[in-house]
Amino acid sequence: MIMVQIEFKGSPFIGEKTALRPVELADLDEIMKWFNTYETRRFLLAFLPYSRAQEEEWIKTTITAANERTEFTFAITSKSRDDFLGTCSIRQFNWFNRSGVVGIAIHNPANHDKGFGSDALLCLLKFGFRILNLHRIEISVFEFNERAKHVYEKIGFTEIGRKRKAIFFEGTYYDEIVLDFLSDEFFSRYP
Ligand SMILES: CC(C)(COP(=O)(O)OP(=O)(O)OC[C@H]1O[C@@H](n2cnc3c(N)ncnc32)[C@H](O)[C@@H]1OP(=O)(O)O)[C@@H](O)C(=O)NCCC(=O)NCCS
Repeated sequence: MIMVQIEFKGSPFIGEKTALRPVELADLDEIMKWFNTYETRRFLLAFLPYSRAQEEEWIKTTITAANERTEFTFAITSKSRDDFLGTCSIRQFNWFNRSGVVGIAIHNPANHDKGFGSDALLCLLKFGFRILNLHRIEISVFEFNERAKHVYEKIGFTEIGRKRKAIFFEGTYYDEIVLDFLSDEFFSRYP
């Protein structure tokens, strides 16, 4: 059985539309159903399809990383139906500077633009700032991923720079845009 969360108002793991929980081996079927979709993967520079064995291995690494406190990866589920929508993670911690890097993917393109990604990312940020006590959280996005950039800026990230023409995608080089969010900005926006 996959973990059950009892809703508690104020939990960083429960948003308006989504909830975050650890990724389970039982999620493999759902991951294999949609995550090899090129429409989703091209934004992650993960063009090569992944086999079931590779995805299973990846889930196991998320468990090890969580135990070692080096990275926290969550399954994103919809609150209304409790179904698996995708994953998000927070990683690359620097505990002296209190910083980390986040990433997110809603796997099935049919679930894009329904508010799930924004809601889940806000949960992840609450976990990062309120529970991990991070001071700065970074995210990056490819220039051609206008939807993701819009979402990040809508939530409150600020563009801080670009790795110019760092990303090769189907014949063209694009900038990788780096954005960040500081804890005081976060708490004034989401008290
Ligand atoms: C990026 C992603 C996480 C966003 O999650 P989502 O659930 O689709 O996004 P939401 O529904 O919360 O918000 C979408 C917003 O983008 C807007 N949008 C959609 N297409 C857009 C475009 N081409 N340009 C600008 N804005 C766009 C929508 O209007 C909506 O704006 P609003 O909330 O102001 O009305 C999700 O689309 C995804 O996983 N994509 C594939 C993988 C990926 O890109 N991951 C991020 C890598 S950096």
